[in-house]
Amino acid sequence: METIISTIDKNNIDESIILSAGQILKDGGLVAFPTETVYGLGANALDEEAAKKTYAAKGRPSDNPLIVHIAELKALEAIVAEVPDLTEKIAKRFWPGPLTMIFKKSQIVPYGTTGGLDTVAVRMPSDKIARELILAAGGYVSAPSANTSGRPSPTTAQHVKDDLDGKIEMILDGGSVEIGLESTILDMTVTPPMILRPGAITADMLEEEIGEVAVDQTLLDSSSTQRPKAPGMKYRHYAPDAKLTIVEGTLKEEILAIRQLAYEAYLQGRQVGIIATNESEQYYSHGIVKNIGTRENEKTIARNLYSVLRDFNEEDISEIYSESFAVQGIGNAIMNRLEKAAGHIRIKAAPIVEKQKYRRIVFVSQSDTSRGPVAAELLRNEKLKQEYVIESRGMVVLFPEPVNQKAEAIMKSGKLTLQNHVSKAFSEEELKDDTLVLTFEQNQKEKIVSEYNVTENVYSINEFLDDDTEIPNPYGQPLTAYGEFYEMMKALTKKLVDKLNSFTEGGK
Ligand code: TXA
Ligand code: MG
Repeated sequence: METIISTIDKNNIDESIILSAGQILKDGGLVAFPTETVYGLGANALDEEAAKKTYAAKGRPSDNPLIVHIAELKALEAIVAEVPDLTEKIAKRFWPGPLTMIFKKSQIVPYGTTGGLDTVAVRMPSDKIARELILAAGGYVSAPSANTSGRPSPTTAQHVKDDLDGKIEMILDGGSVEIGLESTILDMTVTPPMILRPGAITADMLEEEIGEVAVDQTLLDSSSTQRPKAPGMKYRHYAPDAKLTIVEGTLKEEILAIRQLAYEAYLQGRQVGIIATNESEQYYSHGIVKNIGTRENEKTIARNLYSVLRDFNEEDISEIYSESFAVQGIGNAIMNRLEKAAGHIRIKAAPIVEKQKYRRIVFVSQSDTSRGPVAAELLRNEKLKQEYVIESRGMVVLFPEPVNQKAEAIMKSGKLTLQNHVSKAFSEEELKDDTLVLTFEQNQKEKIVSEYNVTENVYSINEFLDDDTEIPNPYGQPLTAYGEFYEMMKALTKKLVDKLNSFTEGGK
């Protein structure tokens, strides 16, 4: 079948499109439409045959019930057997909006829609297009997320098209959704009401309105063998094609661990995917990094999560690593979805990070124009077990200068270049717990130690390697002297690699 795709402006809704979409639903067809949470795949909720078509189009197991969408509170009565006391209070505060409530169903709701259950899930969306469509379709529209079962839920019409083109009658394109994660599901058939799926309406928000609410324990404990109470929550979900792993620790540990995993993959000629934030993006130098939003406003992360997971399917990668997010407010729903996308695969950052304390190596020479930058570039081109940030500094740098031309000529002969190097002065900045400072001369080391009063992490190269090769200074000498220095530095670099790798021995 050919899928009609109609663009609708939320602020200026074309009624003729709504009418024809409504007619398709009345006739038992399928129409995908935007809601404030995710795109839904609409069908007439009171038509058993339409429910069958929904399951077929999504490739979804038919024991997984659908949510019935309504546009007016008075529509609730006909589809539920009873309206529990707290319903009105909750509806008043949170409907229309990203909240689904579960009730005992009435006769008119077919078992095809409820997956054979005696209960029915009901939601009143706030999206204007959704509301008009529901009214045009007769008031009751069942709508699961409009994705192929198991894939991330769609947050744009393009996502729907990618999954369902040719399988459904129509897609209403109302642009990107606002929230990006599916509605909170609250079971009203138990006391106190119980959250079966976390969403933008949080437990705290509900408690503020009605007092105690319970939370399905299987949501909190990923190792639980119990079945979640919302049948749909038991499936691996939202999954990208690549294997997704959540890395847990402090943000710093997470960044370091993911950097290391990305570096190891890079040494093997592979790229990994990385889910990062505004706050961390800049720290990754290997891998395909996607920015999911800012930690300062977790709503941005919720909004981007599914499209980021989908975007990774376009990349040639087999692994994705994600930072973790705080489990509070909407962060609860974010981590719930991320965990399901990862099939609950989590790793602790600390053991990866604790391999050894140095993360950064700074070579210190006199002017940072030849020996230092050459040593740094040689080491950067080695395969190390752990990733280091490798730089160089000078004891006396009055203004930034490019690398010495003879040093560059020698590097070129070794197929390397220092073309982009600019000399920088050594400063107290370099004296950190995670930074190894290596000087070329013993007196440079002593000067730093006494000037800054440091006791650790500063060595001459000879000292550090326990090696007494005299490292010549080619400054002011002919090209051959630079060549000699280069050869000697190459040999020392090999020793340096062995020493650094010995620190990480017995690691992962
Ligand atoms: O935000 C949303 O809720 C979106 C938009 C389109 O409204 N819809 C959505 O539907 O997420 P779906 O089908 O992808 O997820 C519905 C979830 C499933 O986990 C299902 O098992 C649960 O709701 N559910 C539906 N009826 C239920 C019932 N009677 N009892 C328990 N869980 C139910
Ligand atoms: Mg879904």
